[in-house]
Amino acid sequence: MVSYKELGLVNTREMFKKAVAGGYAIPAFNFNNMEQLQAIIMAAAETKSPVILQVSKGARNYANQTLLRYMAEGAVAYAKELGWENPQIVLHLDHGDSFETCKSCVDFGFSSVMIDASSLPYEENIALTKKVVEYAHQFDVTVEAELGVLAGVEDEVSAAESHYTKPEEAIDFATRTGCDALAISIGTSHGAYKFTPEQCTKDPKTGRLVPPPLAFDVLHEIEKKLPGFPIVLHGSSSVPQEYVDMCNQYGGNLPNAVGIPEEQLREAAKSAVCKINIDSDSRLAMTGAIRKHLAENPSHFDPRQYLKPAREEMKKMYIHKIVNVLGSDGKAE
Ligand code: 13P
Repeated sequence: MVSYKELGLVNTREMFKKAVAGGYAIPAFNFNNMEQLQAIIMAAAETKSPVILQVSKGARNYANQTLLRYMAEGAVAYAKELGWENPQIVLHLDHGDSFETCKSCVDFGFSSVMIDASSLPYEENIALTKKVVEYAHQFDVTVEAELGVLAGVEDEVSAAESHYTKPEEAIDFATRTGCDALAISIGTSHGAYKFTPEQCTKDPKTGRLVPPPLAFDVLHEIEKKLPGFPIVLHGSSSVPQEYVDMCNQYGGNLPNAVGIPEEQLREAAKSAVCKINIDSDSRLAMTGAIRKHLAENPSHFDPRQYLKPAREEMKKMYIHKIVNVLGSDGKAE
């Protein structure tokens, strides 16, 4: 048994309380490799933003859960080395799909876990979430749960269509499970293809797809029923068109990739939404930068030559999200 407290990590409780009261959101960035982790920590340390490092099932399969946990431990030391005296870093399991997976993360140094039983019938979702909460809380590990179903496919989390969270269920669910935060469905979805062209309109000037707005009425209804309760938005990449263009210009093929407009995320961050999940934007920034570098430097074969600009591009993107979208800069001085 390893406690996250010994690793210098923190859970989400205080962080979320302050974020809800302060009208900003904490960035939850997924990581699978060293360059992503370095970019996240550099961005958080430079802006003094609390940050949540997320590990998905796909990341565990790709990089190995043990290695990722040690990397997160190293990230705390690295943050201090960068001059961030009191780093506020959470190590979070993204979309845990069973009690056993959540337990193994709690036992192994994660400070926060998500149990995603949203595809189960309502009462089964409650029972499984409650079981995870009871276990995790013994060790002061916080728990995120999910109610409602997000469309899209990401890292083996899939749902063909989205079902908005029912506000009347949210209060019953939160009360009965004792979860610390609730991921809701209001129209976001995982991946770089969040909407079909048929669901979008077209901007007459740019010809770009304009997605339908998020269901803010559902969010506000949930906020009314659960005042001050931490709400989480998954699938919140904005799929920056500059990165899509960069990929496409240098040999990629990402037609009609579209995400959540940043103004809408900014609006959500001012509400009870206190955790915003971003993964695809980092993938796009990294891939765009690598494609560009290799196209412009065909003789390069040292991975450091193309991973360095990729890391710089990701860092730039993370800082932009922290400062201009989520508003979490300076909140972990
Ligand atoms: P994106 O695919 O929009 O980045 O969402 C990531 C996410 O929600 C991870 O759980």
